[in-house]
Amino acid sequence: MAVQNELRDRLIVGLDVPGIAEAERVVETLGDTVGFYKIGYQLAYAGGFELARDLVKDGKKVFLDLKLLDIDNTVAKGVESVARLGVNMLTIHAYPKAMRAAVEAAKGSGVCLLGVTVLTSMDDADLREAGYAEGAAALTARRAGQAREAGMGGIVCAAPEASRLRGIVGPDLAVVTPGIRPAGADAGDQKRIATPADALRSGASHLVVARPVVAAADHKGAATAILEEMAAA
Ligand code: C5P
Repeated sequence: MAVQNELRDRLIVGLDVPGIAEAERVVETLGDTVGFYKIGYQLAYAGGFELARDLVKDGKKVFLDLKLLDIDNTVAKGVESVARLGVNMLTIHAYPKAMRAAVEAAKGSGVCLLGVTVLTSMDDADLREAGYAEGAAALTARRAGQAREAGMGGIVCAAPEASRLRGIVGPDLAVVTPGIRPAGADAGDQKRIATPADALRSGASHLVVARPVVAAADHKGAATAILEEMAAA
């Protein structure tokens, strides 16, 4: 049971749905099978903050994927407000100054701050166009190191990057990987995917899964199958 609970806390279901009613239906159907939910832009700006508060009240863990980046003072004030919601995880773009401001503001709150190293939609050409001389591999490594130095709680990265970046951030930080597809599932628009077992073996501490659970006809069956794949790893 302890092992099952531990695994349950490592599966984060992304509530990528347009509104609160749909999100609540998914959460209710999943019941005790899932204990950790991610709320991103789509739902956050459609009533998702109230839902986050309700989920916390119901004993669920919540990851707010807000990818914050602004001047230090604004980041700090934003982090303080998010911390008051009682959520467990929050993303910040991994810029050193923003991360340091966020870490200072989150002190004592228990929020695990995650640095988004380089968006997985960016390749070397996209980075060049945006004015970065470094390619994606070098920049993710640089920013993973900076996240560790800033005192962040972890990083977000594609599963195939997890083992390389785990080596940089060390054993204690969270390494959270989206782009997870159970063996045989549709990849959708994700290009760098991994199965749940492979992601865990690569050093991921938490897996983010949205469509394979939320778009499945049987949400609970899909989540249970993923937890079984995780247990087998
Ligand atoms: O549906 P799917 O399982 O592909 O969803 C993955 C979730 O993780 C989505 O909410 C997506 O926005 C998020 N994500 C991602 N890649 C990143 C960061 C976040 O897919 N690099």
